[in-house]
Amino acid sequence: MVIDDLDVWRSQRDEWRSAGHSVGFVPTMGALHEGHLSLVERSVAENDRTVVSILVNPTQFDEQGDLDSYPRDLERDTSLLERADVHAVLVPDPDAIYRAGYRYRVTETDRSRSLEGACRPGHFDGVLTVVLKLLHIVEPGRAYFGEKDWQQLELVRGMADALFLDTRIIGCPIVREADGLAMSSRNVRLDSFARARAAEFASVLQVGGSAEQVRSRLEDLGIDVDYVERRGGRLLAAVRIGGVRLIDNVSAGPDAPPDISSPSVP
Ligand code: PAJ
Repeated sequence: MVIDDLDVWRSQRDEWRSAGHSVGFVPTMGALHEGHLSLVERSVAENDRTVVSILVNPTQFDEQGDLDSYPRDLERDTSLLERADVHAVLVPDPDAIYRAGYRYRVTETDRSRSLEGACRPGHFDGVLTVVLKLLHIVEPGRAYFGEKDWQQLELVRGMADALFLDTRIIGCPIVREADGLAMSSRNVRLDSFARARAAEFASVLQVGGSAEQVRSRLEDLGIDVDYVERRGGRLLAAVRIGGVRLIDNVSAGPDAPPDISSPSVP
């Protein structure tokens, strides 16, 4: 069932609530791939009803060109979701979501300013604002987010806690292509040369090491690096390959590795 009208959605939601159904929610921007579908499968397994939203959220794009060229294929997306046994696909009109324009927004003033936030000013204001709006509209018991967007997951969790939201935020592991590249809607914009480079980006990150080592290995491959940083036990990186911006992260152990230069005990 595809729903584009918020009032129609609210009556469906109220019906499910009176029937005592638990609701799981997966917010997306569409152009779905197996990464998105892994979140959907988990929600379907854990809840009586699953809702997926598809909205290319204009406020989280800092470059108009990126927003304009973001892949969109609603027909394909809805048929994939139907096959995945989703109960409702919410496709709201951005004007309905932003009926007060963008005058009211959520800003996190510390962790949103580094990494993605430093490269894409205002990005996380847009993400947190739309996620908060969607959580209020859907009122799910659980909402599912991918570890692919590690910083986004961290900030959404922080917002849910700080603003006393009732929804449980569930993080799901990164789904990768056979060659290790993290699945992303933007991957379709890579030509074959850039696609091979993108796989190298993923393998260098998997090998790990210090942020400086990883950065210089990537630069040696001719890859344009936005950042490589260790944070919260992860090694996070963003690069630009063939005009496409890619992000990824891997588990990296403790942030401050032990000092191996100290003399060992005989
Ligand atoms: P989008 O990029 O469409 O991603 C929707 C969800 O799918 C996010 O939680 C993202 O982390 C997850 N995801 C994407 N690729 C994945 C992969 N390879 N493995 C596992 N999960 C993956 O993230 C957004 O949309 C937006 O910022 C949104 C939260 C919808 C707000 O507009």
